[in-house]
Amino acid sequence: MSSTIKPLDEISDPRLSGRAVRRIAYDQATIARRVAELGSEISAAYPDGDLLVLGLLKGSFIFLSDLVRQITRPLQVDFLVASSYGDGTVSSGTVKLVYDPETRLEGKDILLVEDIVDSGRTLNRLMGILAEREPRSLEICALLHKRIAEGLKHDTKFVGFDAPHEFLVGYGLDHAENFRHLPYIASLQ
Ligand code: IMP
Ligand code: MG
Repeated sequence: MSSTIKPLDEISDPRLSGRAVRRIAYDQATIARRVAELGSEISAAYPDGDLLVLGLLKGSFIFLSDLVRQITRPLQVDFLVASSYGDGTVSSGTVKLVYDPETRLEGKDILLVEDIVDSGRTLNRLMGILAEREPRSLEICALLHKRIAEGLKHDTKFVGFDAPHEFLVGYGLDHAENFRHLPYIASLQ
């Protein structure tokens, strides 16, 4: 689905005061329509089984909360935190998974919900870790996909939008923790 380009020059949004946000890539109505479609697709794709929707924090928090309300079948919700670790000054490229060890993954249909797939490195690491827990199935739902990831080991079964190759913020996505609360998705470029 293509994005609607709207310049922000004449939009006075107090959420943005003094911040360099260039244009709206996806407005609220466009996002809502697509999230409803994804909810229908997901509802149809899981006719039976125990569905566990696993949101990857922090970026997925708004998308996930809208998405689960569009899924018309029983499900459970939980969250994961993936954090890089190392000595703090050099990126180790390793992803540590922080999750509730009480959450049962075995035998469940797991839908991992991600805000945006960029290099795909986060997902490659996470999917390997989650697969070891022997779920019944393991799929990814990403709101945005930049389609630039090389060597993605797992297909992203549900994608909201093929995103432009720009840095996007809003609807959960941040730049240095700013802009997560924008109800639309904007480009900083
Ligand atoms: P990947 O591991 O390179 O695919 O990166 C995925 C993560 O990087 C996402 O979950 C986001 O947190 C962050 N990210 C990648 N691209 C963007 C962007 O355009 N805006 C905001 N965050 C981004
Ligand atoms: Mg981020």
